[in-house]
Amino acid sequence: MEGAALTRRGLLVGIGAVGGAGAMYAAMGALGLAPSEQDKAFTPPRPGDFTLRGRAAASVVILGAGVAGLTAAYELGKAGYDCTVLEARAEAGGRNLTLRGGDRLTELRGPAQEVRFGEGVYFNAGPGRIAPWMVTLDYCRELGIPIETFVNRNAAAYVHTNGQTLRARTAQADMYGYVAELLAKATDLGALDKMITKDDRERLLDFLRRFGDLGPKLEYEGSERRGFTEFPAIGAGTPITAPGSLHQVLAAGTGHAITNDFGYDQATPMFQPVGGMDAIVTKLVEAVGADRIRTGARVTKITTLADGVEVTYTGGTLKADYCIAALPPHLLARIPHNLGAEVAAALRTPVPVPAGKIGLEYGTRWWELEDRIYGGVTETDLDITHIWYPSYGYHSERGLLVGYYNTDENAELYAALTPDDRRRRALTQGKKIHGEKYRQNVLSSASIAWERQEHIEGGWVRWPSVDSSFTLLQRPAGRVYFAGDWLTHLIAWQAGAMESARGVVTELHERVLRSP
Ligand code: ALA
Repeated sequence: MEGAALTRRGLLVGIGAVGGAGAMYAAMGALGLAPSEQDKAFTPPRPGDFTLRGRAAASVVILGAGVAGLTAAYELGKAGYDCTVLEARAEAGGRNLTLRGGDRLTELRGPAQEVRFGEGVYFNAGPGRIAPWMVTLDYCRELGIPIETFVNRNAAAYVHTNGQTLRARTAQADMYGYVAELLAKATDLGALDKMITKDDRERLLDFLRRFGDLGPKLEYEGSERRGFTEFPAIGAGTPITAPGSLHQVLAAGTGHAITNDFGYDQATPMFQPVGGMDAIVTKLVEAVGADRIRTGARVTKITTLADGVEVTYTGGTLKADYCIAALPPHLLARIPHNLGAEVAAALRTPVPVPAGKIGLEYGTRWWELEDRIYGGVTETDLDITHIWYPSYGYHSERGLLVGYYNTDENAELYAALTPDDRRRRALTQGKKIHGEKYRQNVLSSASIAWERQEHIEGGWVRWPSVDSSFTLLQRPAGRVYFAGDWLTHLIAWQAGAMESARGVVTELHERVLRSP
């Protein structure tokens, strides 16, 4: 059983490597590995838990003020734990980073960028979307953070594959149309007769006619679903000319792009905090108490002792009853500690994944005015991978789109360029989809290469094989607990960081209540 489970997880990592976290998660769901809705409900620690037992809350030093560290401090704080958060960066938030005019973005092995976006314009350089089933939205509700729709799927956005640009709705109509035609004809010819009943055959045909918008002879001959060159109004409008052949549609290679949001984690509707993702950080910091967070505090040594934990950092040494290490594993692995060889090896197992994004600010929202694209994502097979149109500020004067969001080799390719060259390259690529206007009216830009962010060094991690390291680090090593999205099946989601933090808080609290 154990072996089978590991093999299945190994497969997931392979899929993740190709399709991204979304594809990995979709596969997990299909294999029945997704977290179940029956996952134990979380009860935050309460002050009463101590008074009833005549115990005092313990002191906890939390390493890292990213989403996992902040969530842990927030939940422990509810019961009066004495938390201190050490953060190596100048600001709390970790990868939850929203850039605005006036910000300065430094980079390892690269020049700093001065962010010059206009008033009200922001760029979520890290997380940008939240699925409604994720615990992230519960925190938004609890912390009073207003949310709005993040448009993840937009039929008016484009699909750019094999040098061809189509509206997403056109690519989808053609692929669905031909697939429906093939299956309908096979059904009609009796090819499925051994598999389905006569009644089911009729039901299936009825569905396929709708699914593909098929004609009376079960043929796909195009559909208004493909869109119009002139929209219907008083006149009937002009539909986009008939589709290419089945061969042409298959050869266009749009399959990956049009199924990108099929995963459970990417399905519409998705959400974002109003005004920027970092509202989550701002509110968590407020709730934790800014005075409990020491920024610019780089940890240099972690020692678990019989009666506590000693943490040395650039500002001194701190002793606490417990420690929650909420740093990326590849950074934790470099800090001297006495947690044992197995922990050391486990921390070296997950591999950081490069990820990059560029925010391009324009003086006109041409995507709305000319392309009628209101939010959403254009999927490409170019090195930019995705273009995101903003899901806020509609109809305002300027706007910011994400000109690339890529990972792995593509992210490394852009990371190696200067910020100016990243922008030039992003504009050249985007022009292939949008034409010359993509290079005009650009007011400013800012790009991030997550593997070059100091004290983060990666977009997220990938476990080469999910082995005993993954489960080992779910357990404390002495008095040191580990937390982060990297210890969950929600890697690259804030929800992973939050769920992990909650798990650790529950375990730590139970231990404190049990301890003599
Ligand atoms: N969670 C990341 C995204 O939505 C991978 O793009």
